[in-house]
Amino acid sequence: MKIKLLIIVFLTIAVAQAQKTFPKLDIQEQKIQSLIKKMTLQEKVGLLHANSKFYVSGVKRLNIPEWALSDGPHGVRAEINRQNWAYAGWTNDSSTCFPPGTALAASWNPKLAYERGLVLGEEARYRKKDVLLGPAINIIRSPLCGRNFEYMSEDPVLISSMAVPYIKALQSKDVAASVKHWLANNQEDHRMSVDVAMSERALREIYLPGFKASVTEGGALTVMAAYNKFRGDWCSENEYLDREILRKEFGFKGVLMTDWDAAHSTIKAALAGLDLEMGTDKKDYNEWYFANPLIKAVQDGKVPMSVIDEKAANVLRVMMKTKMLGDKSREKGIMNTPEHQKASYNSAVEAAVLLQNNGNLLPLDFNKLRSVAVIGDNATRKHCGGGLSSEIKTLYEITPLEAFEKKFGKNVTINFAQGYEKQSAFTEGDNIGQSNTDKVDWKLIDEAVEVAKKSDVAIIFGGLNHDFDSESFDRQHMRLPYGQETLIREVTKANPNTVVVIIAGSPLELSGIVNRVPSILWAWYGGMEAGNADADVLSGKVNPSGKMPFTLPVSLVQSPAHALGNFPGRDQKVNYEEDILVGYRWFDKKEIAPQFSFGYGLSYTSFELDALSTDKDLYDKNEIINVKFTVKNTGKLYGAEVAQLYVSDPVCSVLRPAKELKAYEKVILQPGEAKTVELKVKVNDLAFYDEAKKEWNVEAGEFIFQLGNSSGDIFKTHKITIK
Ligand code: BGC
Repeated sequence: MKIKLLIIVFLTIAVAQAQKTFPKLDIQEQKIQSLIKKMTLQEKVGLLHANSKFYVSGVKRLNIPEWALSDGPHGVRAEINRQNWAYAGWTNDSSTCFPPGTALAASWNPKLAYERGLVLGEEARYRKKDVLLGPAINIIRSPLCGRNFEYMSEDPVLISSMAVPYIKALQSKDVAASVKHWLANNQEDHRMSVDVAMSERALREIYLPGFKASVTEGGALTVMAAYNKFRGDWCSENEYLDREILRKEFGFKGVLMTDWDAAHSTIKAALAGLDLEMGTDKKDYNEWYFANPLIKAVQDGKVPMSVIDEKAANVLRVMMKTKMLGDKSREKGIMNTPEHQKASYNSAVEAAVLLQNNGNLLPLDFNKLRSVAVIGDNATRKHCGGGLSSEIKTLYEITPLEAFEKKFGKNVTINFAQGYEKQSAFTEGDNIGQSNTDKVDWKLIDEAVEVAKKSDVAIIFGGLNHDFDSESFDRQHMRLPYGQETLIREVTKANPNTVVVIIAGSPLELSGIVNRVPSILWAWYGGMEAGNADADVLSGKVNPSGKMPFTLPVSLVQSPAHALGNFPGRDQKVNYEEDILVGYRWFDKKEIAPQFSFGYGLSYTSFELDALSTDKDLYDKNEIINVKFTVKNTGKLYGAEVAQLYVSDPVCSVLRPAKELKAYEKVILQPGEAKTVELKVKVNDLAFYDEAKKEWNVEAGEFIFQLGNSSGDIFKTHKITIK
């Protein structure tokens, strides 16, 4: 009896032990493995490269469907021909267009990122897409990067807070996200050739966190490898990035795909962890790196079959997670609903940043005004269809002038003048179209002055357009193009009640206008509801609550990459010498006053941030710090304030930024109302990346919490000690 019992105990322990070493595969993984067992090498490799511009073959005999991918990131792109880049001319592929990335981040409202993800997922499914190529989360390192408008911010915490809900929501609709561009695609000039060098610390503290959060918290199912090189190796075959960090450290089990035409090798890329080759510029798909050459590499013993199986498993896993393999409950999708359009409006209206409002010129009271001059090319220009891969064939797009006429035209005379002309031209891959765009057109200015004179107020819709904010090239300077400064100066002389509305997705030099106009509203590219959102903010129907997601320098040379002369690099190399001092971290440390700080934005009401405290004074590593403070609406209007919590580490063995954003909360308040806000910050989040120890390190000592409503406006500080 005793012996029997002993044997049972022994066997139980042995089985438990075996399960630990060989964990039981869950049902999904078993199914994946059994499918792989049934597949030939050719069939597996068929899953690893495109069969057309945006599709990848499945395996018919095993009921593995074709895979359909679509751009992103702020709408589902119209259908493109399978074998060339022309649009297919469908009549049912107009979709909802959201304000691009910088506008999303400017809302400082992660709920809007979630709402956007749901809409994108529903529309992608309606269009029978399986993967949406977004979010785009590279760091805004230079004001000039052409794709800043698609990206979100200069700050990794703000980026992560938007990317995670976007991804979760999108994937809840059975569509895989593709977080891009992995990694350091922070410029468009030379993006296909530049080799990026940065310290390990900058990599860990600035450039990786958004991707890490996207994979480990958001559960992103696919990642897109960037065009550029990183430390000498192409991102699509970079052992350190792709195998060591993405797979091993982040535990990524999804698909790593190339950007379109970013593959450079077969064996090296295969071993480094790339799964899927897209967009290679070779007509015969069999000749692609991950087609016949990959089959040959396996046959020659240069790439083990286990590596191919791993890749096929990654593809099948994403298919399974998005319910592509026979799951009847897969989301069917729906397109262009009023709810979708409302989500786009919500995002636009919460993004608007009130930069200046001298004499409280805004909001405009359209019940009292008799006439308004609406001036500027951007008053009538539609932007959803620009920017290159992120361009959207939108169902409609309301321009500011249309919205003004519709909303106020009955009672108020709207006097339109063009003001300035778009002199640039879009040429893919070349910023030459931006040259000679500083011509002052006096005829247009004189017309604008005339309408400004005869109107109670003048509103100039200026800024940029997608000849500047675009994929495939960077801007050449940070100034307002097309003689807009002169236009603004002359109009303001004619009518001091002038408001400037900036439509742009990356920093602009405003020093020539801040002292001339009383009010400036930064309204971004506002998506399909842009005009409605602008009109509602300007008229006070909605109180602005956006905050800048990047620093606005006075001039280009103030910003770190340009101060150090390392943008866009030399001889196809760029070294991020500013290191961790990106954006406000640089301005703070160098004590440079920017034009407008990161996190800055006014409201039509006023707020007070107070009573900053923590639950304890002394913390162990691995603890969580509970931070508390109050936000009060001290003005007369309903509104929202973004309370921003920064931390500094005044004594440290390495240089630390004067402050770093750790948490934030957008608080909506009635006039006179106050709320207590509680935010949690992990002690580990106070760490720096210690290059000597090759790990995160929180050095014992004092840390200072700083509470403000921008990185430049701190109202309360509170000291804690870490043991
Ligand atoms: C862009 C990607 C995009 C892809 C497909 C590339 O040029 O860099 O962001 O998803 O094209 O259009």
